[in-house]
Amino acid sequence: MGSKMTLNVLGVAGSMRNGSYSLQALKIGLEHAKKLGAEVRLIQAALPLYDPNAQATPELERATDAVTWADAIIIASPDYHGSMSGTLKNFLDYFYAEFSGKLFGYIVASHEKGLTVMDQMRTAIRQCYGWSMPYGVSINGPQDFAGGEIVNPLISKRLKMMVRDLLVYGEVLKGQFVRDAKSSEENTFAARYRS
Ligand SMILES: Cc1cc2nc3c(=O)[nH]c(=O)nc-3n(C[C@H](O)[C@H](O)[C@H](O)COP(=O)(O)O)c2cc1C
Repeated sequence: MGSKMTLNVLGVAGSMRNGSYSLQALKIGLEHAKKLGAEVRLIQAALPLYDPNAQATPELERATDAVTWADAIIIASPDYHGSMSGTLKNFLDYFYAEFSGKLFGYIVASHEKGLTVMDQMRTAIRQCYGWSMPYGVSINGPQDFAGGEIVNPLISKRLKMMVRDLLVYGEVLKGQFVRDAKSSEENTFAARYRS
């Protein structure tokens, strides 16, 4: 891949369902990222209902550590009423600046194409100044999975492609963000994130 930095890739699982297809696909995607040289972590999106007045919990601290650690993030959601899961939206509500400058890839488990779900995730991430992959992976669990494996070769290929592209473009974006944040140039997007 010609990669120079080891990219930290976080997977965020937005379904709480036992046997979740989006989680299975996310795990396969993270395994592929590892094969390509990335460091990977996986967390469940389940956090207490967001309350700006509430004290931080150990699970929130773990989630914050993981999001801060990540250079690129893969979000996996079920399609619930054409939307991302409430669990996932609640997770996103906790973060803002932590998403900035990072590249996001999307996996949706849907009986349709999951396009409205991906659009919503992209909108939320754009509001936080994160970058989004222009395409995602939509899986139809009962059709595309058997025995924990993806049996649809087109989906398998697309997932590998998305992970590969996430690593390559994620490195470019993260590298530039860090360089801009370190430089003294004022007229950059990253300048506002200097401490
Ligand atoms: C409350 C609810 C709403 C759902 N709405 C939709 C929907 O609008 N479109 C769709 O294709 N599937 C819908 N589904 C089906 C789920 O997207 C599907 O079961 C998916 O595999 C769930 O993701 P998971 O396997 O990662 O848990 C819905 C399921 C539930 C429980």
